[in-house]
Amino acid sequence: MTAKIIDGVAIAKVVKEECRNRVEILKSKGTTPGLAVVIVGEDPASKVYVRNKIHACEEVGIHSAIHEFPGTASQQEIITCVRGLNQDPAIHGILVQLPLPAGIESRRVLEGIAAEKDVDGFHLRNVGALTVGEPALPPCTPAGIVRMLEHEKIAIWGQNAVIVGASNIVGKPAALMLLQRGATVSLCNSKTQNLAQYTIMADILVVATGRPGIITGPMVKKGATVIDVGINRLSNGKLVGDVDFEGARNRATYITPVPGGVGPMTVACLVSNTVQAAERAAGI
Ligand code: GUN
Repeated sequence: MTAKIIDGVAIAKVVKEECRNRVEILKSKGTTPGLAVVIVGEDPASKVYVRNKIHACEEVGIHSAIHEFPGTASQQEIITCVRGLNQDPAIHGILVQLPLPAGIESRRVLEGIAAEKDVDGFHLRNVGALTVGEPALPPCTPAGIVRMLEHEKIAIWGQNAVIVGASNIVGKPAALMLLQRGATVSLCNSKTQNLAQYTIMADILVVATGRPGIITGPMVKKGATVIDVGINRLSNGKLVGDVDFEGARNRATYITPVPGGVGPMTVACLVSNTVQAAERAAGI
């Protein structure tokens, strides 16, 4: 068996096209959606991600503004910036790129964002809404994963979903979103013993650990869907996910590539959340 490769770039294009139409409607009613991105420090990967997000917004007609701070900026300076953006009627979405430099409490900063402008879905109010199944603004990477599954008409209801990696950004919200859609969910973490015993049960296997090669072919159930969230730069310069792609591809039915899988979907869902926040603000 050779898995079908899920084309995240193509599906993201579909999502962005939908957004472009919604932006046109908003503009015709006098609202231009606006996204503000706050970035602190010099992390090169974060800079690339932020550039991609700004570019995607421009593609669909969203106004974007970037607020850059040096790594030496204080927590209070960043919170003050966020509070100002909360009050700005031209800004409908606020994103603080993570990770923040050591010494800054991310939670404090994220709680400073007005929940209705929290297009990352990280504010406790949005996390709470997700937990009880009433997501206002869902976190972008899990939303992108669900959208990919839906696009490919991959069943979620009644399936075994195994998630490897229990982060607040990906693993935990992905578990909640799949649970909400009727999957039986196992959420594994870095302490999980005998990981293969879980992964081999997975009809849907989501891997988000930042550890290249953590999932090998024999750990994948025959016929599974494998969603690889990892983005790792090897010492030879090659970009790879967390999954041994060739090994997994020989057992899975569907698999996402790295690059070109989950990454573009995360960006497309950020665009979608920003449009949604603008629609709410405009009363649409
Ligand atoms: N850093 C890595 N992924 C993300 C994300 O989805 N949102 C933000 N704000 N920072 C990130």
